[in-house]
Amino acid sequence: MKRVATIVGARPQFIKAAAMSWAFRRKTGVVEELIHTGQHYDPGLSDVFFRELEIPAPRHHLEIGSGSHGAQTGEMLKQVERLLEADRPDLVLVYGDTNSTLAGALAAAKLHIPVAHVEAGLRSFNRAMPEEINRIVTDHLSTWHFCPTRKAVEHLRTEGLTTGVHLVGDVMFDVALKTAERSRTQSRFVAGALQPKSFTLATVHRAENTDDPTRLAAILGALSTLSKRLKIIFPIHPRTRRVMAERGLTAKSIEFIDPVGMLDMTWLEANAALIVTDSGGVQKEAYFHQTPCVTVRTETEWVETIQAGWNSLADPGDSGAIVAAATKALEGGLPRQQIADYGDGHAADAIVSVLERALA
Ligand code: UD1
Ligand code: UDP
Repeated sequence: MKRVATIVGARPQFIKAAAMSWAFRRKTGVVEELIHTGQHYDPGLSDVFFRELEIPAPRHHLEIGSGSHGAQTGEMLKQVERLLEADRPDLVLVYGDTNSTLAGALAAAKLHIPVAHVEAGLRSFNRAMPEEINRIVTDHLSTWHFCPTRKAVEHLRTEGLTTGVHLVGDVMFDVALKTAERSRTQSRFVAGALQPKSFTLATVHRAENTDDPTRLAAILGALSTLSKRLKIIFPIHPRTRRVMAERGLTAKSIEFIDPVGMLDMTWLEANAALIVTDSGGVQKEAYFHQTPCVTVRTETEWVETIQAGWNSLADPGDSGAIVAAATKALEGGLPRQQIADYGDGHAADAIVSVLERALA
């Protein structure tokens, strides 16, 4: 029996890993074991996803926790290497662009264990983002590149990566289809605490926004202005909560709530009148649930959402620009088209089929 070691550590990776774990369990021939780096450790950022999405408990939990990029990635590299050396899986599977992704891919590649990268080929062309560095390095260390979009395939080609590239669709879409159905009956919001389309959903956690005092203040200022029109529900990432506390920033008109699980998040995304976010996953899910979105960033990896009219970028340092983009989106914005990327909800099955054949 062939063995795959899946490396996860941060919230969006648990969600992507769920789709893959479901697909692995539907097939025979490959056994998957999870290594959790512990990058995210609050129960609301980690345990809830394992529980709600029925992800198997990790075989190893490294409990590495937070730290500077070098310290955190270095500790992960050291500990993942030790485990991979002892376990010798046939393949290492990594997701996205976090420090856990980079450490997993690097540890495996140095041990000559082939790496498969799910969500390969995305680029923001902004090297100030830690994620951009992580994904470029990971792509160049990987043997298999599973791309969610045609643009991602194009980016890899530009960088000379043309073998082992598979356009499979987006595993997050696989999950969105399943959770949409469940959230309609199983979310706590079904009880009626919020009326559909009566609120804007906001999430902000990206380092370039939280760690820049002007940007975070501008985003919160814009949300406060928008709250005069629609209530703002803001599940707050611990990074953002910490920075606001450190800087004494408050925003009384915003309803901050603890981070929510996937069923509640799906309900919120599907029922919001508008989403304002800097999250990669959330801007895409906005489209999956056909909710208009404003992304408070200067660029995005998910360019199809912009081209199709579902998403627009707003300068995170310019409160007026954010309010203008949100107002336009609420009032109909651009004509909205369906997107040909992201697959048919079976991206994970396609990936497992490729890996099964490769490992046979
Ligand atoms: C990380 C990823 C980012 C991804 C995000 C998903 C990197 C470089 N960044 O960012 O790409 O979009 O996860 O959410 O890998 N903290 C807690 N509890 C936790 C986890 C974090 O309080 O369970 C706080 C700590 O103060 C920590 C800070 O959040 O220092 C940032 O956490 P970290 O994992 O370093 O980065 P994220 O901002 O979560
Ligand atoms: N998410 C969630 N609860 C929250 C905020 C986000 O379940 O309170 C989900 C969201 O639906 C998406 C994923 O977490 O699937 C995105 O993670 P995040 O925004 O932390 O990271 P990014 O996608 O930007 O890397």
